Amino acid sequence: LFQRLFIFVKNISVKDMSGIDAGKKAAAIAAVNNHIKDQQIVGIGSGTTVVSAVQRIVERVKAENLKLICIPTSFQLDVAIDGADEVDSNLVCIKGGGGCLTQEKIVASCAKEFIVIADERKDVAALGTTWKKGVPLEVVDLAYRPVQIHIERLLGGSAKLRLATQKMGPVVTDNGNFIIDWVFDRPGDWNQINTTLKMIPGVVETGLFVNMAKKAYFGKADGSVQVRE
Ligand code: 5RP
Repeated sequence: LFQRLFIFVKNISVKDMSGIDAGKKAAAIAAVNNHIKDQQIVGIGSGTTVVSAVQRIVERVKAENLKLICIPTSFQLDVAIDGADEVDSNLVCIKGGGGCLTQEKIVASCAKEFIVIADERKDVAALGTTWKKGVPLEVVDLAYRPVQIHIERLLGGSAKLRLATQKMGPVVTDNGNFIIDWVFDRPGDWNQINTTLKMIPGVVETGLFVNMAKKAYFGKADGSVQVRE
């Protein structure tokens, strides 16, 4: 019985995953088709959804002989395409599930157009609906404990240090910092919350992307895409 149950659960999750992957791919293809033009300088973020965007860019470069400059960061990007962990109805995003939020925010801030690509699960009315891991923050390593205390005192919720594994200890970012995941009680004024978080000494950057995304492409399992702006 347990074996059958295991196979059943395994099949369900494989099926779900393929639908999610199809959604990610559909969103990525639609965004690259609509926003990438010849002679552009393009910022590339990170995550599994962005892999499909890069594949589509390569296809288009080969097929249409496009001349593009694709870079992870610059001060002058025409368009930046990146995934997100959740996007609310005002296009406020939570990013940093993969821990690269600081570089990603720098890239997004350097682009004239910041385009988000994601599967449909991430399209929510209010942040915190499906993404239960909270808002990631990059913090200076020695400040992580006071930052946790400040966040919980100022904003409530719980601020957890992200661990690689219990044995290995904290996740260390590309910049040599730690990540705190702030699980909030309820959605609020994200602009104000972002400012409050950034004012805490030791906080390098937050995974709240407020007033940054111009458009979001949400892909579904059937290959269709919902665009929001
Ligand atoms: C990494 C990110 C990613 O863009 C975000 O986590 C989405 O990843 P995926 O496309 O794999 O679902 O912010 O820091």
